[in-house]
Amino acid sequence: MKRLDQVLNAENIPAELELVVNDVIVACKDIAFKLRQGDLAGILGATEDENVQGETQKKLDVISNDLLKDVLVSNPFVRGVGSEEEDYTIAANADGKYLVTFDPLDGSSNIDVNLSVGTIFSILEAQDNTPGDNQEVFLQNGRKQVAAGYVLYGPSALLVMTTGNGVNIFTLDTTVGEFVLTKSGIQIPEDTAEFAINMSNQRFWEPEMKQYIDDCLQGEEGPLGKRYNMRWVASMVAEVHRILMRGGIFMYPYDNRDPSKAGKLRLMYEGNPMSMIVEQAGGASSTGRMDIMDVQPEGIHDRVPVVLGSKNEVAKVVAYHNK
Ligand code: AHG
Ligand code: MN
Ligand code: MN
Repeated sequence: MKRLDQVLNAENIPAELELVVNDVIVACKDIAFKLRQGDLAGILGATEDENVQGETQKKLDVISNDLLKDVLVSNPFVRGVGSEEEDYTIAANADGKYLVTFDPLDGSSNIDVNLSVGTIFSILEAQDNTPGDNQEVFLQNGRKQVAAGYVLYGPSALLVMTTGNGVNIFTLDTTVGEFVLTKSGIQIPEDTAEFAINMSNQRFWEPEMKQYIDDCLQGEEGPLGKRYNMRWVASMVAEVHRILMRGGIFMYPYDNRDPSKAGKLRLMYEGNPMSMIVEQAGGASSTGRMDIMDVQPEGIHDRVPVVLGSKNEVAKVVAYHNK
């Protein structure tokens, strides 16, 4: 069985990048361990604080954020970090080449009910000498990512990642504390009849998205001509993982609950890394109107509408938007 370091070596990525990935994984193993302890470690429940997104922070949002931040800012090859749970980007080492953005704990509403959560990360290269506490250095589109991945803390802890050479899946062997390769060359089935969307937001969607979902719900008799199934875990990591394993389409579309937000999910911490993984696995990822990885970020906390998964189904949703 191959360990993560052996796989990364074989992919011929720069040694410095490998050391950055390694530090992300050190923090994720710690998060995995704390999650296993659950209530025994007193880590469940909410804090008194809100993050920059106006969301109540769970204790584990804060703990996971601190673990990732602390290990990465002391890595000599990291210029700076950006996190969903931090107001501003943080400078690490002026000579560092890599920028790491992360969603330390995705699906936080699942923590207290003991369901799947995850960590999502994205790695970019600094293009000039701008320090890491200036968000400008991070504002590159998703095509510039040199690595992206997530750790799913489910019945087993899985690391799913890409350096642009396909998608590998590693399982945490808790007996030795190492991620070992358990699947490689992941390919998402091109067709699907399974969608994931939070239906309770339906009245806030754009007409194009309403129409697509209405047509799905009509099943065999409708214009899409097939009977659809639906899932909603409320953890993007878990939804994307299901799609990697058996196909499907995941949507968090634009809605007008708060017209200042383009959608709930964040481009730099959720949209871009998941899009790189999905595209590397033969799937597609769009805002409904353009590829997510072509969106130029204007701010580190930008939000983006997300439609991703099986290629042919994503193409259908894009066609509704282009009608
Ligand atoms: P986070 O826990 O990092 O804030 O992200 C939660 C996201 C995503 O993982 C999930 O798909 C979605 O929000 C769930 O949203 P609803 O609350 O609308 O179900
Ligand atoms: Mn999230
Ligand atoms: Mn989060």
